Amino acid sequence: MVDRTHSNPFTAVLSGLLDQRSQEPKVGPVPPDSRLDGRTCLVTGANSGLGKGIAIRLAKRGAHVIMACRSGIPEAGEDVRVASGNENVEMIQVDLSDFDSIRAFCDELRDRKVILDVAVFNAGVVPVTSRKNKHGFELMFAVNFLAKFVVLDRLLRDGVIPNAVYGNNSRANDPPRIIFVSSETHRSSMPIDFETFGAPIEYGVADGVKYYGLSKLHLTTYFHELSRRLNPEGSVEPDVCVHALCPGAVNSNMAREAPAWLKPILKPVMALFFQSPEKASIPADYLVCSEEMGRKTGAYMHMMRVKESSPASMDPDNGALLWSKTEALLHEHDVL
Ligand SMILES: NC(=O)c1ccc[n+]([C@@H]2O[C@H](COP(=O)([O-])OP(=O)(O)OC[C@H]3O[C@@H](n4cnc5c(N)ncnc54)[C@H](OP(=O)(O)O)[C@@H]3O)[C@@H](O)[C@H]2O)c1
Repeated sequence: MVDRTHSNPFTAVLSGLLDQRSQEPKVGPVPPDSRLDGRTCLVTGANSGLGKGIAIRLAKRGAHVIMACRSGIPEAGEDVRVASGNENVEMIQVDLSDFDSIRAFCDELRDRKVILDVAVFNAGVVPVTSRKNKHGFELMFAVNFLAKFVVLDRLLRDGVIPNAVYGNNSRANDPPRIIFVSSETHRSSMPIDFETFGAPIEYGVADGVKYYGLSKLHLTTYFHELSRRLNPEGSVEPDVCVHALCPGAVNSNMAREAPAWLKPILKPVMALFFQSPEKASIPADYLVCSEEMGRKTGAYMHMMRVKESSPASMDPDNGALLWSKTEALLHEHDVL
């Protein structure tokens, strides 16, 4: 069933506010003495907003943090070092809308023989009206979904994220974790149209949130399919723990492209009522650090509540079709 609560900017903001007041049961935060010393954690889009909050949290736990960013180099890395008191923080430049840049980024990780214990795919974009990347794909489709598929295709095949299925370097006794930052807006999305899959779409200000929701439905459907493929049915313990979350409403730079007339309303509302990136990063921290999430795969959290994502996103037929259509599209464009 499609939920219409996130279908336009007003209902999306209202729903974000209501989410914070929900009384449904929550999981507790992971105590600060749970450490990540000796662990390597990648966070995309870590120069700003939620990603920066996540990077600081993981660095405070002692992790070697790799911030994969398009901008903010080197200042954001310095901010994270100072805020966490951890010098073991580095930045690598990558533009996730550009498959050539993604290729260079993945080459660097492979050539340096980096092994990731954790990869948090946080970067996302909400253009105010439709735009295309240099390869001709609509920008949200490209950054919020396709980029994750392309990066992970490489990191898993290269064994940068240890795994049995694509990398032949399983670390099943100590599974790595892949975390996707999705959004509850995936529930309000129209179904994925596999007939027109990947074709450029045009939208104006009024429809941006709708297509943002669709890009998050692509991502959430992919997340479940990846979890199933990396952990074939019958596996007792997960080989790779794959999880996703919606952080709830975050006071970040996400609305940077909102129309000028909306900003004077949006900015104070966000500042007053939305969570700080520091607070909004607690669910990601839970998925990365909790023992519970290291023993399972395919969990979806909405803030600190573990729940099911939408039925469409969990449907294995949808997942398999999305995977094959994406592979075909990327082959057609010589990306894979
Ligand atoms: N804010 C919310 O209320 C909310 C709610 C639900 C889910 N989310 C999700 O949370 C995630 C983080 O967003 P945010 O709220 O923290 O917004 P944000 O402050 O705008 O952060 C977005 C991050 O993504 C990066 N990014 C965008 N396009 C990129 C590209 N082509 N290549 C590399 N990096 C790129 C941005 O880099 P630049 O600074 O260089 O552009 C920035 O670091 C997103 O996935 C978003 O969908 C946010």
